[in-house]
Amino acid sequence: MTIGITGASGHMGAGLVRHALARTAASNIVAIARHPEKLEQFSKQGVEVRAGDFNQPSELVSAFRGIERLVMIPTSDLQPGVRSRQHADAIKAAVAAGVQHLIYISTVSPRPDPANSLFDSHFTTEQALIASGAAWTILRMSVYTDTLLDAAKRAADSGSYAAVPGAPAAYVVRDDIAAAAAGILCTPGHAGITYHATGPVSVSQAEIADAIAKAAGKPVAFVEMTGEQQRAGLEAAGLPPALVTGIVGFQAALRAGAFDLVTGDVARLSGKPAESPFQFLSRTFGTAHVSGTTH
Ligand SMILES: NC(=O)c1ccc[n+]([C@@H]2O[C@H](COP(=O)([O-])OP(=O)(O)OC[C@H]3O[C@@H](n4cnc5c(N)ncnc54)[C@H](OP(=O)(O)O)[C@@H]3O)[C@@H](O)[C@H]2O)c1
Repeated sequence: MTIGITGASGHMGAGLVRHALARTAASNIVAIARHPEKLEQFSKQGVEVRAGDFNQPSELVSAFRGIERLVMIPTSDLQPGVRSRQHADAIKAAVAAGVQHLIYISTVSPRPDPANSLFDSHFTTEQALIASGAAWTILRMSVYTDTLLDAAKRAADSGSYAAVPGAPAAYVVRDDIAAAAAGILCTPGHAGITYHATGPVSVSQAEIADAIAKAAGKPVAFVEMTGEQQRAGLEAAGLPPALVTGIVGFQAALRAGAFDLVTGDVARLSGKPAESPFQFLSRTFGTAHVSGTTH
């Protein structure tokens, strides 16, 4: 079985290739990226490396040729309408190339929302995938636990963690999503199923402050921010407007409960338990306060 992975130069794609290498021979794997020279670590191990840019659909047909199962990792372009078009073109190219089974990494709670390309593009891609005629599997991901790390380091230094309070969320470690996707890619079945890659527990922002304090071994106070303060901070950091809108919409959905969903899919698909935010932070801070936590 020849399997393919797009976005192999990115964090999740590279993790997925590594997990696939633990499950199948390198000669079964095709790693695809806009700049294949970034994939030397994999070509050295016997993985076939191909060029594929979602803005060049005709090139994608050749990139996908001979692949039986393909994981499509979403691109990172949040300009309104762009990602939906890129993904629709990639799905058409995969079908034209003869790919039999397409696996898409989506988001928990996708929805049509032209004002927020992040959720909207995942929704339209899921619809295009289901209508493609190929066998399909969707792996909806929760919010990355990894996104907490920089804020956690700042909080450990300053003694306070500022966030907008709201519903809890089942943060998931990016490498756990990659491991789950490798499980789908490298084992039979999974057609017509929508999985949810989530962490093992839903945590509030106040519980995250507590987890940082325990992992860092120093007190961290939770400071409540407003949504307006959060937007102003992103704008002051100089992020592009489309990205600010994407992040603000994502955070608002998170506070409304869009990511308050815990499943056992990561453990079921990857064969190992999903890591909690507290375990992740403890590992990355290098302390040993892992046992006995409910986080
Ligand atoms: N759930 C969450 O909390 C969360 C957080 C962040 C991101 N995400 C999503 O998850 C995806 C994977 O995350 P990640 O951490 O692996 O991000 P990443 O490291 O930025 O990787 C993004 C990948 O997309 C590729 N890409 C971008 N535009 C492309 C195009 N036009 N054609 C082909 N490939 C293209 C990049 O290729 P290059 O190396 O050539 O740039 C890279 O391989 C992101 O793209 C984003 O959609 C989710």
